[in-house]
Amino acid sequence: MHHVQCVLQASKCLGWGSLASGSWLLLRTCRAHSSVSGITCPSPKGEQEDGVRKDFGSRLATGPTFQHFLRSASVPQEKLPSPDLGDPPPYLTVDQLSGRQRKVYLETYGCQMNVNDTEIAWSILQKSGYLRTSNLQEADVVLLVTCSIREKAEQTIWNRLHQLKALKMKRLRSRAPLKIGILGCMAERLKEEILSREKVVDVLAGPDAYRDLPRLLAVAESGRQAANVLLSLDETYADVLPVQTGPSAASAFVSIMRGCDNMCSYCIVPFTRGRERSRPVASILEEVRKLSEQGLKEVTLLGQNVNSFRDNSEVQFSNAGSTTLSRGFSTNYKTKQGGLRFAHLLDQVSRIDPEMRVRFTSPHPKDFPDEVLQLIHERDNICKQIHLPAQSGSSRVLEAMRRGYSREAYVELVHHIRESIPGVSLSSDFIAGFCGETEEDHRQTVSLLQEVRYNTGFLFAYSMRQKTRAYHRLKDDVLEAVKLRRLEELITVFREEATKVNEASVGCTQLVLVEGLSKRSAADLCGRNDGNLKVIFPDVEMEDATDSGPTARAQPGDYVLVKITSASSQTLRGRALCRTTLRAASALLC
Ligand code: 5AD
Ligand code: SF4
Repeated sequence: MHHVQCVLQASKCLGWGSLASGSWLLLRTCRAHSSVSGITCPSPKGEQEDGVRKDFGSRLATGPTFQHFLRSASVPQEKLPSPDLGDPPPYLTVDQLSGRQRKVYLETYGCQMNVNDTEIAWSILQKSGYLRTSNLQEADVVLLVTCSIREKAEQTIWNRLHQLKALKMKRLRSRAPLKIGILGCMAERLKEEILSREKVVDVLAGPDAYRDLPRLLAVAESGRQAANVLLSLDETYADVLPVQTGPSAASAFVSIMRGCDNMCSYCIVPFTRGRERSRPVASILEEVRKLSEQGLKEVTLLGQNVNSFRDNSEVQFSNAGSTTLSRGFSTNYKTKQGGLRFAHLLDQVSRIDPEMRVRFTSPHPKDFPDEVLQLIHERDNICKQIHLPAQSGSSRVLEAMRRGYSREAYVELVHHIRESIPGVSLSSDFIAGFCGETEEDHRQTVSLLQEVRYNTGFLFAYSMRQKTRAYHRLKDDVLEAVKLRRLEELITVFREEATKVNEASVGCTQLVLVEGLSKRSAADLCGRNDGNLKVIFPDVEMEDATDSGPTARAQPGDYVLVKITSASSQTLRGRALCRTTLRAASALLC
């Protein structure tokens, strides 16, 4: 049994290889093949084809052994002294793969997907015998879950690595060496560059390689760098139950798909997170059921394009109809067929627990068929909140971005959504200063902000990313100062409009899910309304509308009816009326 385990581990080492030595491995494998199967590979300088063939027997005897390949699966570390363990073991034993109670400190950067990925990585490490610590000083392993979406996100990580380097050097004098790992998008985008630029990094794991973390850390323990940045076509971590942490104790993120096929010209995501793939519906439902049993009151379904969800895992689903895109929208890829779609998933998830709010992010505007809109409208526990990333208000820029819609098609969709879901909250992402954006294009974006009046907005200055279509085909020709000025203008307009929209809710009664004490004042509670806007109200005793028990203060996870008394662009303030349930409130608020 033990033997089988070792062989499996060995073959995994070879197949998945440590990245920095990947090319070495490939070359050697190729030479072996060329001799055995007669396929010709480039010969090393000075060697003649004939010579290679004649000599094969003796060369094979003196050539690299299997253990050579295994040994090459990691790169010796320079500068930072590492324990001299001699040759690394040819394979890793169960004991070496175990965390042996070493303490891991996890730090998350970037989007909500990364928050979820952190918990997936942690779930895998926990099973492998690691402990988690929230105290950096006592950590044996520090893992940064990183983001590559903009230059600034990566710069933050480089800066953090410099701080960690100091900690690592200090640690060398006291206890066992600190191991540092880069996980996620930056590991995927920069690969070897990180290992060679920052000798302080021991482990590199791309977004699809978290299952390999115990092995990578075991290799790192032997004083070598280890990496796995292979992207997968089917990894969804469906069977790895993340140890949940959501925006609050009462809510959790549930990943429903990974990767992206959209290929918007500015975006690095398809390169860092790979092809789009959906998690089987059954495993999502099982996770949501468990969260409901734990008493959680909100789930956010997560993915890069949640509404393009398509579960093709069951043969009987694969004949279902093809995609219906929103009117005036197109895709950069061939229309996909069959599978269980997002409307089905949303329907099923929302039926699990009527007291559990359901949100989703991020969708793409192209996939909003009427049945999704209808469902959001009808189901009390699906929040009437849609993120509809526009990116620009200029059709010309949208085309350069390869978004697959014009401004007119987008605006028509907004009207259709507002008709289908009265009172819906809308949010959006915008990029200021994309390649070729003129002042007129910029004005069009300003006017879109004014026309749509979003409740929430995420605004960014364009940051050129290597590998993307824009990097290869377009010119990053808007001056940095101009990008920033335009960004400022977008922020100002967005705030003005959001303030007007939010002020309209003053005097209304809203259902708020309590998250906890307000960060600004311990006398106030903070929660979120259906539109995901923060609502602050005094922490006082109140009645429960659904029973006649004594008055009590609201706790995280309670629903409270709040009368809104004032509003700003990002927050509402109000007065608590009573505790209640989602179902009771829905009957009352309609
Ligand atoms: N530069 C600036 N913003 C970007 N985004 C994506 N790629 C870039 C980039 N290269 C923004 C988009 C996207 C959000 C997650 O990040 O607005 O919707
Ligand atoms: Fe950043 Fe995008 Fe990766 Fe999320 S998916 S971490 S936003 S690059």
